[in-house]
Amino acid sequence: MPTWKHPDFIFSYDEQGSGLPILFIHGYPLNRKMWAPQLADLSENYRLIAPDLRGHGESTPSAGPYSMEMFADDCASLLEHLRINQPAIVCGLSMGGYISLAFARKYPHMLRGLILTATRAAEDSPDARSNRQRSMDLIESGKHYEIFETMLPRLLSPLTQQNNPALVSQIREIMETTNPSTMISDLKGMMSRPDSRPFLPDIRVPTLIIHGKDDPLIPYTEAQEMASALPNCQLVILENTAHLPNLEASQAFNRHVRIFLSQFS
Ligand code: MLT
Repeated sequence: MPTWKHPDFIFSYDEQGSGLPILFIHGYPLNRKMWAPQLADLSENYRLIAPDLRGHGESTPSAGPYSMEMFADDCASLLEHLRINQPAIVCGLSMGGYISLAFARKYPHMLRGLILTATRAAEDSPDARSNRQRSMDLIESGKHYEIFETMLPRLLSPLTQQNNPALVSQIREIMETTNPSTMISDLKGMMSRPDSRPFLPDIRVPTLIIHGKDDPLIPYTEAQEMASALPNCQLVILENTAHLPNLEASQAFNRHVRIFLSQFS
């Protein structure tokens, strides 16, 4: 797996294929491995880049907090390091979606299209901020595993949990590699992110939103609201799917992504 020595940390990433570049940005508390079904399926036609954000997976940490804008800066500098000389498609899930929106705001010249999945444009509500504070208290008292136990059943739909225990174990393994101090840096960054809703009408690039109908963490109505505010957006809601559509319904997810990408060829 390639690495690059960013001024603040060692950046690890997967890179496969050639053609139109697609940058995949993972969610919290996950890493680049969550994009395995997309890397396996799309690399014949596209140049796929899936980084481990700083502190996640095999990228080393730096001092926190990790703002969404800082992660977007990291992604832009990785694309520059890879000498990607054309605007990219940016695909982000959940926290990766918050980062994608920060990227769209700061680097519009590097953006050809946007894929937003299981994410929202709104900032944290007061309740969400209190929940994040509770999570940080748990982590600081050495109980970060309790967060995984609470999160796991909410990441995957009841049907996926019943039919695909291997996926449940795989997500658990990915989460367990995430360092507690990275979790705190992410939580602080997410709870202070700005509201992206006022900026949505300025995003002119083609956008695809894919959202799970059963997502208990971010209700699909938020995806509908985001889609109606984006000038050039298609919305797909997947049944029996919760917070990880690219894993739970990988074939349908990839099919919709391929259809979306066909307009760029
Ligand atoms: C994620 O999946 O990245 C998180 O659930 C996002 C969040 O906590 O807001």
